[in-house]
Amino acid sequence: MARAAVLPPTRLPPTLPLLSLLLLLLRETGAQDVWVRVLPEVRGRLGDTVELPCHLLPPTSNVRVSQVTWQRLDSATVAAFHPSFGVQFPNPPFNKERLSFVRATQDTNMDLRDATLAFRGLMVEDEGNYTCEFATFPNGTRRGVTWLRVIAQPENHAEAQEVTVAQEPMPVARCVAEGGRPPARITWISSLGGEARDTQESGLQVGTVTVVSRYTLVPDSRVDGVKVMCRVEHESLEEPVLLPVTLSVRYPPEVSISGYDDNWYLGRTEATLTCDVRSNPGPTGYDWSTTSGVFPTSVVVQGPQLLVHSVDRLVNTTFICTATNAVGTGRAEQVIFVRDTPQASRNVGPLVGGVVGGTFLVLLLAGGALAFVLLRGRRKRKSPGGGEGGGNDDDDRGSYDVKTQMFGNGGPVFWRSTAPEPVKADGRGEEEEEEEEEEKAEEGLMLPPSGSLKDDMESHLDGSLISRRAVYV
Ligand SMILES: *[C@@H]1O[C@H](CO)[C@@H](O)[C@H](O)[C@H]1NC(C)=O
Ligand SMILES: *[C@@H]1O[C@H](CO)[C@@H](O)[C@H](O)[C@H]1NC(C)=O
Ligand SMILES: *[C@@H]1O[C@H](CO)[C@@H](O)[C@H](O)[C@H]1NC(C)=O
Repeated sequence: MARAAVLPPTRLPPTLPLLSLLLLLLRETGAQDVWVRVLPEVRGRLGDTVELPCHLLPPTSNVRVSQVTWQRLDSATVAAFHPSFGVQFPNPPFNKERLSFVRATQDTNMDLRDATLAFRGLMVEDEGNYTCEFATFPNGTRRGVTWLRVIAQPENHAEAQEVTVAQEPMPVARCVAEGGRPPARITWISSLGGEARDTQESGLQVGTVTVVSRYTLVPDSRVDGVKVMCRVEHESLEEPVLLPVTLSVRYPPEVSISGYDDNWYLGRTEATLTCDVRSNPGPTGYDWSTTSGVFPTSVVVQGPQLLVHSVDRLVNTTFICTATNAVGTGRAEQVIFVRDTPQASRNVGPLVGGVVGGTFLVLLLAGGALAFVLLRGRRKRKSPGGGEGGGNDDDDRGSYDVKTQMFGNGGPVFWRSTAPEPVKADGRGEEEEEEEEEEKAEEGLMLPPSGSLKDDMESHLDGSLISRRAVYV
């Protein structure tokens, strides 16, 4: 049978080697002459084999050992060795099947110095303080005490406990350290701010403890899918065990509608609304309706999508998407405002909304370019500095050079680097300039650079934020 080494002392504080040395010195009892060296503490795993070392020192001394005994601190002798009479295990639970002297055998000559004792099949009952005692001649009795500790490494596992949204705190994950001795310590790593509720019960093996920790919080939909970590600490583990758990909270659909760009006009083709749903489990069905009760014939429903092939007056209504799953129902409304004509300054809508006929886009761009050229011309005529440098459209478009810009009489000088913006030489005010910068930043996020349209565009970001409400049923 393989000998289990003494458990690694990794869980012990770093000061311990020093301390044990000190203890050793203290425990090496007796006067200056001979003394007994033992370990103050030995840890063995349940079921394993463990050795309790015991030596009479110094090895050079010429005292005679007449007998060696191991006793539990309650004074019951568990093992004895006599050079003439041999080995005895007088206490039945500590029989020769389980106990043995490692070096002291009948063959050993009279100079017995090593009384190391081995335990096989370590049991919980073996835990205790053992005295190793040498009877010497002529110096008398010398002894040392070792604390034998029996350790059991816990089996660890963790899992989510699926729950449905609620107002009350409840366990959402469970972490189990089975059969630890001493009991394992369980903590949770999470930013959710739940609390751990621990219980202990006895493990399968006598003397072991199973610790169950339940991570408890008020389960709302934001908890669904979040990962938390169970951390198990035990002295038999070199490092804490980390067990990830993905939480699962069942909740009814949380619905919003996307796709409306505030520029739906009569005759517009291929407008789309999408019903965006978060839920657990996934939605089983979508239902589209209108507040008026009349459902436009020009509208086609495809699951979560609502396709309008051609916008007409019937679409001028409020659409409701209702989504259902096993837990419940959620809905959202979208007010659609149908215009008679496209909104001139918001004609970038299709790019946001997604779908637009290619021909139509080209038409829009052409129209925009025309408007730009006209406006440009007007501005230049009005502005005092009009026409100085950078006046023509080709220069304006996408200049990436580092440029300086000067305003009025000794006004501020701006250094611009790598800004894909045309140089303005039309002497407009500083504030106006800054506003335009912001606009362009927004365009830059959403649009391919359509230089000629820039001046006539407004931010369309607001257009996509219109009146959406998510409603629970
Ligand atoms: C053994 O002795 C140590 C101190 O010397 C003590 O802390 C421990 O509780 C004792 N163990 C048993 C099982 O009596
Ligand atoms: C113990 O034995 C040694 C010889 O090994 C002797 O020198 C010493 O005096 C003895 N001490 C006592 C306390 O009997
Ligand atoms: C859509 O309805 C609004 C009032 O809710 C109305 O002002 C608007 O003119 C309507 N649009 C069309 C194209 O009829």
